[in-house]
Amino acid sequence: MDKFIIKGGTPLKGTIAISGSKNAALPVIAGALLADSPVTIHNIPRLQDIYTFNNVLRVVGAKVDFKEQENTVEIDPTLVSYLEAPYDLVRKMRASFYMLGALVGKHGYAKVSLPGGCAWGPRPVDLHLKGMEAMGIKITLDKGYVIAKADQELNGESFTLKPSSVGATVNLLLAAVLRAKKFTINNAAKEPDVVQLCNFLVKMGANIEGIGTSALIIRKVEKLNGVEISNDPDRIELGTYMIAGAMHPDSELTLTGCNADHLGNFPDLLRQTGTEVTIDGSTIHIKAPKKLKPVSVKTDIYPGFPTDLQAQWATMLTQAEGESSVTDSVYFDRFSYVPELTRLGANMHVDQNTVHIKGKTPLTGASVMSTDLRASVSLVLAAMIAKNTTEVLRVYHLDRGYESLENKLNPVGAKITRAEDN
Ligand code: EPZ
Repeated sequence: MDKFIIKGGTPLKGTIAISGSKNAALPVIAGALLADSPVTIHNIPRLQDIYTFNNVLRVVGAKVDFKEQENTVEIDPTLVSYLEAPYDLVRKMRASFYMLGALVGKHGYAKVSLPGGCAWGPRPVDLHLKGMEAMGIKITLDKGYVIAKADQELNGESFTLKPSSVGATVNLLLAAVLRAKKFTINNAAKEPDVVQLCNFLVKMGANIEGIGTSALIIRKVEKLNGVEISNDPDRIELGTYMIAGAMHPDSELTLTGCNADHLGNFPDLLRQTGTEVTIDGSTIHIKAPKKLKPVSVKTDIYPGFPTDLQAQWATMLTQAEGESSVTDSVYFDRFSYVPELTRLGANMHVDQNTVHIKGKTPLTGASVMSTDLRASVSLVLAAMIAKNTTEVLRVYHLDRGYESLENKLNPVGAKITRAEDN
């Protein structure tokens, strides 16, 4: 198990290239199983979650070739024969649950393990299952597995997601495009990850109306052809590095390969802290203010403030002059990073689904524990501006979602060493 040893106190100056999006890649990799011929996807990041998901596809019989140096995945779905996704893989990564929609959508049958909970509490899949039943798919539960069976044509008419759910929207799209006569998903997620999946499915031949809105209407088509697409850049990685560039008063970062359209109101919120944010096509320039202003935020579904940037934003606010708060309305208990940050000297406390922060507090290095992907990157952000040295343990959480983090940050001034944590 690796750890990071981080010597803090240095500003970040230079250029960082943004990688392909993990959360946008996973739905299209699953969607490739719906095709009658091979699919090629470019701009796929080299991340643990991608390797894990590629293995899930191999278990069901797909041929998956990840040309890592080119960040390209080639998937041949024509040999799929085993319609089960096993617990030992699904428990590693919740998005493996997309196999349910992909397999039952293409083959009329799927047996997929229920995903485990995760670091910040249980994460239900009831909307996925109720939505499929509303579509006309027969769902049964058997010893921790979901068994889904679907006729060639499904007559269910619609389902309303309460709350809106990215994963449920993805799974229902995958199940519907080859089988649902006409099915409407109401209160569908509008995240760019969902829009990319819809555009990919339509390019393969699917019939989807309302792309980018919260009402998606799917009409079945007989077949989908393999295509070649390029995956979106990672908007959460981008937001994370924008925040990193704001936290030390002398930092100045240039981020390349971005899609600022996927950031919603995030750039304006960051500007309110006094940070200079200049968007120039696919390049974003960040210049930190001498003094950070406190800006409270509340997360929301897209295009609101993303919950996946909640921990990073709260970490930045420990360096703002004044009081502020961050409320997570998507996940009510996604604050496992807070006790770790207080070990570094942060003055913050959680009250229900809000963390209250008093800044500016100088941070001093200590040993801290990663708990989930976004919490762990927040510990790295804090460690880079803390005095002395910080040890961030269990960085495997980071390797799930941030492509070569230390190789992106050290060239711009960070001092991060990866070490064995015996
Ligand atoms: C996706 O998770 C992302 N994961 C998450 O990113 C992200 O935090 C989340 O969307 C919200 O944006 C991937 O894309 C692989 P949801 P997902 O279903 O689809 C409730 C990261 O750090 N809900 O949109 O699982 C749920 O409890 C990860 O990269 C139900 O009640 O999230 C939550 O409160 C973490 N029943 C809300 O909906 C369900 O059946 C939103 O969850 C499904 C969800």
